[in-house]
Amino acid sequence: MYTEEKKKDKNYGSIFAYCVLCFVLIVEVARFAKPYYGNLQNLMETEALVAEEGFVDVMNSGKLPCPFKTSRSASARSHEKLSGLIRREDRARPPSSYCVKFQNFATMAKLVKDNGDKYESRPFSVGGYNWTLLIYPNENKPVGSGGYVSMYVRIDNSSLIANPHDVYAEITFLTYKSTIDRYHFLQETDAQRFHLFKQQYGQLNFLEIGYYKDPGHGFIFDGGQSVFGVDILVANPFEKWEVFSYEENIRDPLFNWKLTKFSTCNLDSYTSGSFSSGGRDWVLKVYPNGVGHATGNSLSLFLLSASNEKGYVKAKLRVIDQIRSNHLEKQVDGWPNATENGWGFEKFISFADLKDSTKGFLADDAIKFEVEILSFSKTDTL
Ligand SMILES: *[C@@H]1O[C@H](CO)[C@@H](O)[C@H](O)[C@H]1NC(C)=O
Ligand SMILES: *[C@@H]1O[C@H](CO)[C@@H](O)[C@H](O)[C@H]1NC(C)=O
Ligand SMILES: *[C@@H]1O[C@H](CO)[C@@H](O)[C@H](O)[C@H]1NC(C)=O
Repeated sequence: MYTEEKKKDKNYGSIFAYCVLCFVLIVEVARFAKPYYGNLQNLMETEALVAEEGFVDVMNSGKLPCPFKTSRSASARSHEKLSGLIRREDRARPPSSYCVKFQNFATMAKLVKDNGDKYESRPFSVGGYNWTLLIYPNENKPVGSGGYVSMYVRIDNSSLIANPHDVYAEITFLTYKSTIDRYHFLQETDAQRFHLFKQQYGQLNFLEIGYYKDPGHGFIFDGGQSVFGVDILVANPFEKWEVFSYEENIRDPLFNWKLTKFSTCNLDSYTSGSFSSGGRDWVLKVYPNGVGHATGNSLSLFLLSASNEKGYVKAKLRVIDQIRSNHLEKQVDGWPNATENGWGFEKFISFADLKDSTKGFLADDAIKFEVEILSFSKTDTL
């Protein structure tokens, strides 16, 4: 009794391993058999096809191409992560570039057998190019697709022939699922590169054909209808750009400006002629009676960009002491003041200091300003 128990214990390990192996085998077999199962089932059913006239292309005009259907339990797979690069999910938003509706999927699948087993949409325009959507509804068409519906987009090559270049586009293939009133989609996250030698891109394994045989899955609805679509997002390379740089050791850094007849200056502000420093044009702007908080108590002084550029500026603003070789100096160091669109100080020098005759800032009713530009950033647009 005791020995038998022990022997049993030992065997549990190998029985367990055997079971795992069996399970893996069954799962694998089921996985490969699945796409064909639906077809097999369909072949056994008697085909009762109602002949319908052809297909309908539906331009995406913001209208839902499909009638609303009440929800049933969804049996087709959704939210499946195939790899980091391919996304398979459902969404409410209709195809953004083009949509094709088949009044009867099965009829279409039969008719296209004479056309290389593919349905080819009319050309449509996206991102400055013409495209066509290709749908392969039949088994192993194109070769290698097995039991899957395949979907492709092809770029019209006329503009590529005229001017060979690369076109990058993000492509998403969609099909309408009536049971949940959403679009099932397959999307590769990387943009696809189209050029003269690669005019077509697609998904060989878009969705198992079996899903289009049994209306219970929702992809076939209202007596055989189905809807396919595509999002094409053409990413044009940038055409405009800017270069930001910071200039130091400025050429011609100094500029002098004399404001005469100060006592008769009755305008709000005076602006100097423009001067060039470091390859840029600037002006000085003075408010003899002050501006903002300085109104009535101090003179305001600003450095402005003559071409209205905004940037980082480091500069020394000065009022010259005309008696001694001296000056009053304040440094700006930053981005422009939003109100003045320039760099400077409301309270640059108080009227008390300015009018103090011992200080020499006001001589012969004139004030001498000076600016020394130390550095500035610039943005060149190309
Ligand atoms: C797209 O097709 C239309 C109609 O055939 C044509 O007029 C147009 O030039 C084409 N555009 C491009 C970029 O090929
Ligand atoms: C351009 O596209 C057409 C239609 O797909 C094709 O027949 C032709 O061979 C293509 N031309 C080139 C140069 O790729
Ligand atoms: C800009 O100048 C105005 C008055 O001209 C002043 O009120 C404001 O504080 C200044 N802003 C900055 C960021 O320097």
